[in-house]
Amino acid sequence: MESIFAAEWIQFPENLGEAAAEFLLQFKLEKPLQSAMLQVTSLGVYSAECNGKKIGGEVLAPGWTNYRKRLQYQSYDMTQLLQVGENTLCIGVGRGWRMHARESDWVQPAFGGKDTALIAALKLDYADGGSAVLSTGSGWLCREAKTRMSHIYNGEVYDAGFEDSFLRPVKVLDYPHEILIPLQGERIVETERLPVKEIFTTPEGEVVLDFGQNLTGYVEFTICGEKGKKATLRHAETLDAAGNFYTENLRTAKQEIVFLCDGGAHTYKPAFSFQGFRYVQPKDWPCALRAQDFTAIVVHSEMKRTAWFDSSDPLLNKLFENIVWGQRGNFLDVPTDCPQRDERLGWTGDAQVFVRTASYLFDCERFFKKWMADLASEQYANGGVPHVVPRMQWGEESSTGWADAAVICPWQMYLTYGSKQILREQFSSMRGWVDYMIARSTDGLWLGGQHFGDWCCLDDYATTKEFLQNAYFYYSTSLLIKAGRVLGIPVETYEAQAALTKHAFRQAFLQGGRVLCNAQSACAIALYFDLLEGAERESVAAQLADLVREAGHLTTGFLGTPYLLHALSENGYTDIAYTLLLRREYPSWLYSVTKGATTIWEHWDGLKPDGSMWDAGMNSFNHYAYGAVGDWMLGVAAGIQIDERAPGFAHIIFAPQADDRLEYLNGAIESRHGKVSCGWRRADGGRIVYEFTVPEGCSATLRLDGKEILLGAGSKTITVG
Ligand code: BGC
Repeated sequence: MESIFAAEWIQFPENLGEAAAEFLLQFKLEKPLQSAMLQVTSLGVYSAECNGKKIGGEVLAPGWTNYRKRLQYQSYDMTQLLQVGENTLCIGVGRGWRMHARESDWVQPAFGGKDTALIAALKLDYADGGSAVLSTGSGWLCREAKTRMSHIYNGEVYDAGFEDSFLRPVKVLDYPHEILIPLQGERIVETERLPVKEIFTTPEGEVVLDFGQNLTGYVEFTICGEKGKKATLRHAETLDAAGNFYTENLRTAKQEIVFLCDGGAHTYKPAFSFQGFRYVQPKDWPCALRAQDFTAIVVHSEMKRTAWFDSSDPLLNKLFENIVWGQRGNFLDVPTDCPQRDERLGWTGDAQVFVRTASYLFDCERFFKKWMADLASEQYANGGVPHVVPRMQWGEESSTGWADAAVICPWQMYLTYGSKQILREQFSSMRGWVDYMIARSTDGLWLGGQHFGDWCCLDDYATTKEFLQNAYFYYSTSLLIKAGRVLGIPVETYEAQAALTKHAFRQAFLQGGRVLCNAQSACAIALYFDLLEGAERESVAAQLADLVREAGHLTTGFLGTPYLLHALSENGYTDIAYTLLLRREYPSWLYSVTKGATTIWEHWDGLKPDGSMWDAGMNSFNHYAYGAVGDWMLGVAAGIQIDERAPGFAHIIFAPQADDRLEYLNGAIESRHGKVSCGWRRADGGRIVYEFTVPEGCSATLRLDGKEILLGAGSKTITVG
């Protein structure tokens, strides 16, 4: 049994409201250590120090789970931090996700209470062979921290001059230990430091610092002011049409850092909150504003970057980097919709549409293992899946396209990384969701319920909810069947169900070989989810191509967008897919790039061509969902695909599709076996030179011009034309 399970939960004796507490243990080490390890976690967010030095590289620990059910603890090697003689452990605890969101309507009672709490155990192994454990309990002391307010959305108030000299005994709290689990996800860490790119004065006369990149994290600043002087740092993602600092899209989230000076110089960064921003506006700054005194620190779950893209179109390259930043901005222990406004929630639908791209861009298997376990733990008894995980108190609805994250995400992890473990761990959760749909269906069709639909689409929700819920019903059932086969679990009843649903779907939603809801998303989904038979494929593909031609652009929302280009390129319309991808005007992926975007926007026209905003209420500039196109850029334009029969890139399928409008294009994915790459460039005489890399121990099938060639490990160049 790990030592932390024998420790006691401790609390500040009174309710501190939004102020942070510090818990201290002072002790004397009598003899040298062989090793020492600290296990620690909190209800809230903690920041731990030993003898004035920060412990571990993590920030915002212990991360975010439903603290009633699961709470991760971290383990730190303390051998180098402790010394023979006097030692002090000081652990600050702020509210973090413990009191999530606006207290009135969003608060998650399941996260419990307004008070933070701490539990820790320090295991000492002496050089002479003896050992001891120092755990949280009545022997610890506490005081109020200099952080007078911390809030996940609103930011922090730090009073450098505040000194709580009254060290008081802690209160021991009766709180369960069964919820404790060792860190399951990735550590949340600082991954990059960005200097100020520009300081300028807005038309309204405010001085603003621009870091040149929309990001998630916080600003470290050096400040010096008279005692009691109050300086404020405001954060914004964008400027408005006139070039002024714009914060309306944050809704109620203040994301402000307030620093109260004490006469001395300080270098400060928040410890219990994060902000989504590109610009900051220092207000009432007590000293000269110098760029070198401000640094933006990027914070997210620690994940290795694993995909690269490069082409002759700089806008396309920028789009790819914006997708990467979208993931960096929103993979903070849970995949969130956005990192700035008063939301920042683990929206299942957003994660589901982006998961394949995410799994290529970064190694996020561990990240998803943890979040999928979160999801399973939050699933309702009837198999339904909450809209957000960890869940909020929003009743027990399950929405099609959102709840399907339960099935789609684990399956993608298996495909990208090749390990069956996540399927084993999640299988009953996956089945739970499919059973939920089956239980609500009649003769293969599932009707009713509340669904978000093709969220943010441009065709007035022409793809109906009934269409979507049955398409996803079939798709998730078919993925469950595949997972069952991989695991050797009998799935005959699901096979029968899938056949029934497909039949019922075709009866209800097709007529004369056409999709009845005459919409791009509907056609793309019917094609991609394999809901069509025989000649229907060709006619629905033609219907889709016509719809795109008529509109002159895409009209898809969250659910249709990930499949739109695939549905076109898989059915003979690669040129149209490229036309959509390369389009620069609204609506398109590159429109935001032409507007200077450095992340992916929630809306195709977050910032309209005339400079005005889509809307103040729901306009995130860091929403990764439409970044799902990264998968097409790597998988079709560069042509790197997974073979479901040998996942994890053990066997690769190369099927690059070149386009006249580009001179060259290269994609690379660092798989678990090594680097997989594929690229093409134009050569003299209309020829195209293709280059491939297959990692050691792997093989590939190249599909080019209707032919198949088997490739072994190593690099290969093929010229066509
Ligand atoms: C979120 C979305 C989410 C949606 C559900 C929004 O507020 O930001 O990304 O999927 O609600 O429809």
